[in-house]
Amino acid sequence: MKKSLYALGELPPVGHIPEKMLASVVRPERYGEPIDAFREEVVDVPSIGPNEVLVYVMAAGINFNNVWAARGIPLDVVAARRKRGAAEDFHIGGSEGSGIVWAVGDRVGNVAVGDEVVLSSCIWDESAADIRMGADPMTSSSQSVWGYEENYGSFAQFTVVRDYQCHPKPERLSWAEAAAFILTGATAYRQLLGWYPNVVRPGDPVLIWGGAGGLGSMAIQIARTYGGRPVAVVSSAEREKYCKDLGANGVVNRREFSHWGRLPDIGDQDAMARWFAEVRRFGAAYWEALGAKRSPRIVLEHSGQDTIPTSIYLCDNAGMVVICGGTTGYNADVDLRYLWMRQKRLQGSHFANLQQCRAITELIASGDVDPCLSRVGTFAEIGKMHQLMCDNQQPPGNMAVLVNGGLS
Ligand SMILES: NC(=O)c1ccc[n+]([C@@H]2O[C@H](COP(=O)([O-])OP(=O)(O)OC[C@H]3O[C@@H](n4cnc5c(N)ncnc54)[C@H](OP(=O)(O)O)[C@@H]3O)[C@@H](O)[C@H]2O)c1
Repeated sequence: MKKSLYALGELPPVGHIPEKMLASVVRPERYGEPIDAFREEVVDVPSIGPNEVLVYVMAAGINFNNVWAARGIPLDVVAARRKRGAAEDFHIGGSEGSGIVWAVGDRVGNVAVGDEVVLSSCIWDESAADIRMGADPMTSSSQSVWGYEENYGSFAQFTVVRDYQCHPKPERLSWAEAAAFILTGATAYRQLLGWYPNVVRPGDPVLIWGGAGGLGSMAIQIARTYGGRPVAVVSSAEREKYCKDLGANGVVNRREFSHWGRLPDIGDQDAMARWFAEVRRFGAAYWEALGAKRSPRIVLEHSGQDTIPTSIYLCDNAGMVVICGGTTGYNADVDLRYLWMRQKRLQGSHFANLQQCRAITELIASGDVDPCLSRVGTFAEIGKMHQLMCDNQQPPGNMAVLVNGGLS
């Protein structure tokens, strides 16, 4: 029997699109701590355009961008969308997920109703002038993040995606595993292999901040797969062991050092001397972890303000610090002397293009890279899981929640 609303996990008749759906919703009046910002509500199922796909969501990945969405800082996502003409006064987050194709627009040819898919995180306008002139779509001025800048992400029974966001679900994965690897995995893949000539080569030392985090756990494995020698930085003994088990060459515990944050004033010679002493001590610990006195050819950054001065200092001559986030803040200091004299590269990097999404999906499908799913929550726990991430209390690896799916 057809209904207008189904319970979580209750499968509508194939092809039937109900009028309503359950969603985990953020509203501007609730912006603040993630645990309070997300709330279950019933909303209309969105309609799809000619190049779009409606997906019945089985599971959704948890990521840091929806900590920001919950806080409304640094971007008020609802206000930003309304300024662009959106009607909705709420946000449905979730920038990755897994599910079943439920309906397709008139011009969709790459997937069909019933296909099992993994959903990637970014959208762009395929007819944008810069893309037509050959730009990587991730650098297009039309690019934005689904489930963060764009509405109707994966924290709902149904989501709307562009056709190219659908990737074949690796058969060996559960719904939850399939939901939680592509955002961090593809981002780390682009950071480590997308910025020629600074790509991981056999024997290259690679320094990875937050080695036990979502990005870090993917980066350790990708660097290893391409012959690199990853050294991970973490903040606890449990995370040290996790990174070593994943294949890190060695590990440094950042809690044993105190030079974090912005650089001292360049004129304050005492403070600068203390900073240099500490960063050199950190460098010695990194050499010990690597087992060789070699600087990292690539530094995988996302921690930002607290760590950028160290990353720039330690990076090899002509090496690259590649950054995709600013967990500890985005007002970071760079001592330019090291950048120009040693000809280092500070490279911004943001998610991944389709080739990079497919490459990580294949590495996961083949078993070369593990999705590192550490925790699976319920739909009701979406706020709680973002709060864990916000407080840096999350377990190592990636986290997911079940939406309509079960544990298999
Ligand atoms: N642009 C993109 O496309 C993109 C994609 C994915 C992620 N990101 C961003 O990248 C960041 C990390 O994402 P994630 O999914 O890996 O998050 P995560 O799983 O929460 O991991 C972040 C790691 O950062 C480390 N960390 C926390 N405070 C730190 C500090 N003061 N100094 C050094 N390290 C610190 C923590 O490790 P320890 O405490 O063990 O050191 C933690 O494991 C987030 O800001 C996210 O928004 C951006």
